[in-house]
Amino acid sequence: MTSWNFEEINANLSQESSQINNAADLEAFRIKYLGRKGLVSEIYAGLGSASKEEKPLIGKNANDLKNKIQAIVDDKKDSFQAKSQGEKAKESIDVTMPGVNTPLGQAHILSQTMNEICAIFEQLGFAIFEGPEIETEFNNFTALNIPADHPSRDAFDTFYLDTKDPSNKERNLLLRSHTSPAQIRAMQNNKPPLAVIVPGKVYRPDAVDASHSFMFHQIEGLLVDEKVTLSELKGLLTVFCQKLFGKNIKMRFRPHFFPFTEPSAEVDISCYICKGKGCSVCGRKGWLEILGCGMVHPKVFEAVKYPKNKYTGLAFGMGVERIAMLKHGINDIRLFFENDKRFLKQFK
Ligand code: DAH
Repeated sequence: MTSWNFEEINANLSQESSQINNAADLEAFRIKYLGRKGLVSEIYAGLGSASKEEKPLIGKNANDLKNKIQAIVDDKKDSFQAKSQGEKAKESIDVTMPGVNTPLGQAHILSQTMNEICAIFEQLGFAIFEGPEIETEFNNFTALNIPADHPSRDAFDTFYLDTKDPSNKERNLLLRSHTSPAQIRAMQNNKPPLAVIVPGKVYRPDAVDASHSFMFHQIEGLLVDEKVTLSELKGLLTVFCQKLFGKNIKMRFRPHFFPFTEPSAEVDISCYICKGKGCSVCGRKGWLEILGCGMVHPKVFEAVKYPKNKYTGLAFGMGVERIAMLKHGINDIRLFFENDKRFLKQFK
């Protein structure tokens, strides 16, 4: 009979198993030991010819050997599988990972403020009307009853273009210094009753500082019909201020002068910061000026060739930057135009 040196077999086994590097190596190893013609089968097959005394010992050693080999095979198989799964996972996409965040844009705080103001007047029945930023001297001044020698016509206060006005070859075109010339266009193109709100850019040759900019935004309002009254102007602007600044806002109409309205007034609201007590923002007065207004001057109706004494109208104009600054406690107009995202993203 063949005698088996189990000690040597075990030693070889350890040595060989340490050299198994892949699934093919493992299969060759398995066949060599556990296959139908493998070593373990061979040992079992030889049992019949073993002596009575040897048989149990060989049997036990053969069983131990078989279990040990099976354990090696199982163990290696597991580790190969885990490895290949790990590699697969590396290649594939993990759909449970959080995505890359693409920040959503937002409207600029000035656009937001203009939209908010326009929406209030739209709810009250006003239509949005837009005029051009390049205007004639007639629309920007003359038709608005601004005298020929008024200082605001000076080149120090208005940007004049090199281009001549095609409708008046004596005059140059200009960048509108307020949104009021759009009133003239609205009236020339529409018959009363009419109610328009005009948002837009205006230009003045001011040196830039915390409260001045050579370009800023205004919103103009105009309502013309047969019997528009001053009390309607007051009522309208009161509703507007309450919607924009809250129900508890206090207001006052202070007499003022504008060439294109008579009577004219400026509207103040109780200081948003100190609630009227007096602080540095309102100059200790407790009031903040937010807009100019009045009843359309008959000379303006004359300039747009409306029939005499037929219509009355109310008009108002406000600075958008100023209102946004008051509402949000912004202390420098330049912040609006620097486009620093740290500033802009505060106004979501
Ligand atoms: N245009 C004026 C300005 O730029 C604002 C203004 C005041 C507009 C009174 C009006 C008004 O329509 O009635 O300061």
